[in-house]
Amino acid sequence: MNAQQPVALVTGASSGIGQETALRLVDAGFQVVGTSRDASRLTAVNGLTFVDLDVSSDASVAAAVEHVVGRFGRLDVLVNNAGIGSGGAAEELSVAQDQKVFDVNLLGVIRMMKAVLPQMRAQGHGRIVNVSSIAGLVPQPHMATYVASKHALEGYSESVDHEVREYGVRAVLVEPGPTSTPFDGAMVRPEVLLPAYAQQRETFAAVMADSLKDGDLPATVAKVIAAAATDVKPKLRYPVGVTASRVSLLRRFVPARVFDKQIRKINRFAA
Ligand SMILES: NC(=O)c1ccc[n+]([C@@H]2O[C@H](COP(=O)([O-])OP(=O)(O)OC[C@H]3O[C@@H](n4cnc5c(N)ncnc54)[C@H](OP(=O)(O)O)[C@@H]3O)[C@@H](O)[C@H]2O)c1
Repeated sequence: MNAQQPVALVTGASSGIGQETALRLVDAGFQVVGTSRDASRLTAVNGLTFVDLDVSSDASVAAAVEHVVGRFGRLDVLVNNAGIGSGGAAEELSVAQDQKVFDVNLLGVIRMMKAVLPQMRAQGHGRIVNVSSIAGLVPQPHMATYVASKHALEGYSESVDHEVREYGVRAVLVEPGPTSTPFDGAMVRPEVLLPAYAQQRETFAAVMADSLKDGDLPATVAKVIAAAATDVKPKLRYPVGVTASRVSLLRRFVPARVFDKQIRKINRFAA
């Protein structure tokens, strides 16, 4: 073990964007610890080991961060990648399901940030990369809870970034557009379907399938996350791919009414 080698912790590294990010950071010279709720099913490779982590558990978060700091004596980069989606009309999801999404996507990040900040402040440097989404910037019908969790993440991350900057720590956001990963399969979905939303549901499924078919590769997102983790002068946010970059610009510069119309058109809703 080389004490000079920087150390990165990547949550949700068992698949998709997190898996690619962990490998990318190994290539960039980091000792990487990736996480999964069941790390025993993953195989370590040179420079990459795995540890159990459920970001919805205080005890699990404390144990994972203690493991990394105890083993390496440092933690240079945290990538908060673990996340789950939500599908279905707002009325169809139970509050317990909404809470589950927030517990992972927002409170999971909050737990992780609270756990690593003492170490990062003490060492005088650190970078936290929060994986948001294009859904952190714009509405998406039939994904309201997911969208809300990512909007909240944007506000939290940007606010904390101001608090910790003077201690050499930065919290930045990466905003992927649709990306081809198993994300869709792990979404929280309604237990009871309401006939009132049948038509929208069908359309939403088609819109989602279309966007994921042409989605970015997880490796493309990982490349941007690695840049966000290592840029000497990091940007506040890193949109990934054409869709996210375009939407991010439109959101800022297009009048609200025009933007609203566009959202309805993309989702094939009546004007
Ligand atoms: N795919 C997209 O189109 C897209 C677009 C924009 C943003 N994103 C964001 O990118 C991130 C990664 O998603 P992905 O597309 O790569 O999906 P994915 O392949 O389903 O990966 C999700 C990861 O999160 C982990 N995870 C889920 N629940 C967890 C929990 N309670 N505690 C700890 N880890 C947990 C999973 O690990 P285990 O099951 O092994 O624990 C898995 O490694 C998410 O934050 C997502 O919101 C995705």
